Amino acid sequence: MPELSRAYNIEDLRCLAQRSLPRSVFDFFDGGAEDEATLRANREAFQRVRLMPKVLVDVANVDTKLELFGRVANYPVAISPVGAAGFGRPDADIAIARAAAKFGIPFTLSTAANASIERVAREAGGRLWFQLYPLKDHDFAAKLVERARQAEYEALLVTVDLPVGGKRERDFRNQFTLPFRYTGRNVLDFASRPAWALRLLRHGVPRMENLEGFVPQSEDTATIALWVGKNLDASFDWNRLKALRDTWPRKLLVKGVVRADDAERIAQLGCDGVVVSNHGGRQLDGAIATLDALPAIARAVGSKLTVLIDSGVRRGGDALKACALGAQAVMIGRATLYGASAAGESGALRALEILADELERSMRLCGTRAIAEIGPHLLAGN
Ligand SMILES: Cc1cc2nc3c(=O)[nH]c(=O)nc-3n(C[C@H](O)[C@H](O)[C@H](O)COP(=O)(O)O)c2cc1C
Repeated sequence: MPELSRAYNIEDLRCLAQRSLPRSVFDFFDGGAEDEATLRANREAFQRVRLMPKVLVDVANVDTKLELFGRVANYPVAISPVGAAGFGRPDADIAIARAAAKFGIPFTLSTAANASIERVAREAGGRLWFQLYPLKDHDFAAKLVERARQAEYEALLVTVDLPVGGKRERDFRNQFTLPFRYTGRNVLDFASRPAWALRLLRHGVPRMENLEGFVPQSEDTATIALWVGKNLDASFDWNRLKALRDTWPRKLLVKGVVRADDAERIAQLGCDGVVVSNHGGRQLDGAIATLDALPAIARAVGSKLTVLIDSGVRRGGDALKACALGAQAVMIGRATLYGASAAGESGALRALEILADELERSMRLCGTRAIAEIGPHLLAGN
């Protein structure tokens, strides 16, 4: 795709995704809840940070590697779980996971992914984490966790900011439901992107491979998707998190936390990591921007837990800012999703190339040669 080499930043990839996707699918990926105030605040928080670069440091060589959960990652970046990515392009989960493996960073597979736990392990490899949505059907959730264990996923990441779906009004307006309901309006929308529509026809409506078998007697995507929506467990609480900690033998991360007191309790339960996240502005509109929530959480649990952050990362320099404010690494959702929607694996790779290049540049420009050298001394006002 010639345009891909002319995508100089994540916003360019976002524009390419917008040109490739029907409006309803693009809006589902791109949008946030209600007035999208938190969606915007996430970006503004990163853009507000001002740096105090050091000069006259020999930065001919910089090293972006770090240790993350006892293993080397090539960058302080991991992929956040994104459900239904395959509606942007067939096998987008595999495309993004392969790109992550090539870059030597962890990939998180969503409960609501289109590719199964086992298929991603087989076809992509690399460092894999599995994201669990608490489901009312505890037995089924336990089966998913067991499958992730058997497939050698190194971490379980449980998402706790979705007791109920956020109110995403772009989806209402576009009559977007998962999977697609063919209304006159969305058939026109799909027809406006013939290459996308042809791929859909050729590959069929993406399945939700992890959840087949969840609904008795049904392999049908429509039935499964409806069932999942009704089966999110709003009663999931500290006791249930403790039970998960007691049974999952590997690294356990909790995603969707913005309060230091919650993070403290997560540390007391013996979890390994916390992801400061507001679900990319898709859940509670009015929730604090994650970068604004990060310092208090890093102060409270930084010595006990690995602190990760997502929501709004669009520049490699954002990773440097987050590390300066106390995170070990950032996670990204839409950046690689835009790339994969526009151009599959090469688009996801392009997103990571852009972020890696920007991070290395920012490190050199700040006079830092290693991730461990990034700290609060680089922040204006400190
Ligand atoms: C289309 C889409 C689907 C998502 N699906 C999930 C999911 O299944 N599980 C989950 O924990 N988070 C999900 N998220 C949230 C992401 O994991 C992540 O928190 C968010 O995208 C980070 O913000 P960013 O997109 O600005 O990087 C989804 C986000 C998007 C955009």
